[in-house]
Amino acid sequence: MAYFSIEKLFTQWRKAWYNYELKMNSLLKTMECTALIYTTNSEQETEAVGAALAEKLPGGSVVAMYGDLGSGKTAFVRGMARGMGLTCRVSSPTFTIVNEYLGKRDLIHFDMYRLGSADELFDIGWEDYLNRGAVCAVEWSENVPEAFYGDEVRVTFEKLGDHSRRITIEGAPEC
Ligand SMILES: Nc1ncnc2c1ncn2[C@@H]1O[C@H](COP(=O)(O)OP(=O)(O)O)[C@@H](O)[C@H]1O
Ligand SMILES: [Mg+2]
Repeated sequence: MAYFSIEKLFTQWRKAWYNYELKMNSLLKTMECTALIYTTNSEQETEAVGAALAEKLPGGSVVAMYGDLGSGKTAFVRGMARGMGLTCRVSSPTFTIVNEYLGKRDLIHFDMYRLGSADELFDIGWEDYLNRGAVCAVEWSENVPEAFYGDEVRVTFEKLGDHSRRITIEGAPEC
């Protein structure tokens, strides 16, 4: 009888341990996938991170970028274009708001620096762009929180030094 109880206890303990392991594994997976964090030390390295992200992005993805002037957003989009096999010139569409890079895959490049309201978002045809199946990369996403619905890839740029940037990517497909 005593032997039986110990065996039962042991089985229960094993089950508890198994459940604990399952929980820990899924927790670790969530933590691993919360964000991808890179430190780059040149414009070219930032471009390479952009290229690697864009290669895996399905059409229709929205990449919302956050970060100060000169933090590397345009460099990142230049890399994205390269990663998508596009050879066109990429520069911030600060005055035009939108640049379209068209090829085998399409990339639409927005700069929301001058945009002040959700109405202006409507004026530039944001919803139409979303329905085109192109990848949309958005600089100054801070200015248009109403443009995003929670399924966007968020990329945050921080200046660490003259040539050093921290790039944090959340919501990427591999996460
Ligand atoms: N690690 C880096 N990544 C990206 N740009 C860098 C880096 N180090 C220095 N730079 C410089 O910072 C500037 C970034 O400009 P840009 O990509 O236009 O920024 P943003 O679009 O955020 O205003 C460029 O002049 C670039 O040469
Ligand atoms: Mg820019």
